[in-house]
Amino acid sequence: MSSSATALSEFSNPNLEPLFTAEQIQTRVAEMGAEIARDYAGGTPLLVGVLKGAYIFLSDLVRSIDLRLGVEFMAISSYGMGTRSSGEVRIVKDLDVPVEGRDILIVEDIVDTGLTLSYLIASLHGRGAKSVRLAALLDKWERREREVTIDYCGFRIPDAFVVGYGLDFAERYRNLPYVAVLKDPNA
Ligand code: IMP
Repeated sequence: MSSSATALSEFSNPNLEPLFTAEQIQTRVAEMGAEIARDYAGGTPLLVGVLKGAYIFLSDLVRSIDLRLGVEFMAISSYGMGTRSSGEVRIVKDLDVPVEGRDILIVEDIVDTGLTLSYLIASLHGRGAKSVRLAALLDKWERREREVTIDYCGFRIPDAFVVGYGLDFAERYRNLPYVAVLKDPNA
């Protein structure tokens, strides 16, 4: 790799305005995990991570839930490569196990319009899940178009496009250890 490429820092990119530090996120995720462990005590929940954005949140969250549990993934197409929802929801990768009779906890990075989650929750109920709850790291509540109950919410955020800790813009910035507002998507 050339020396000019290594000199550029992705983590302190000037187009990013930090919103939550890695420490703030770790503290909040640990609190959420403890609350989930209390609520599901005696049960065996199946955590369903929504790819790709939730992969870092899910991996930290499960390590704070001191319970026997299962982990599965789904992938849903929503935004393509842009910053606004197309309104179109499609399952790109489905679960590998049946959910009938299971207590499902969906783990999502961010709830924006709510279109993705309202579709997913209805779909899992339709497959006979015993219960379906939602844990979301971020709630962009001002933009909601469909009512969605977030049972475990990390942080409420204003209407801005955010990246980091798994969240991307056109597949970039997922590796930031913190969450930041992307100031100019065209920069
Ligand atoms: P919704 O269906 O509009 O609620 O959108 C949910 C999905 O859109 C999330 O799982 C993210 O993948 C994506 N998304 C929404 N807002 C943002 C954002 O600010 N940054 C990155 N991805 C976002």
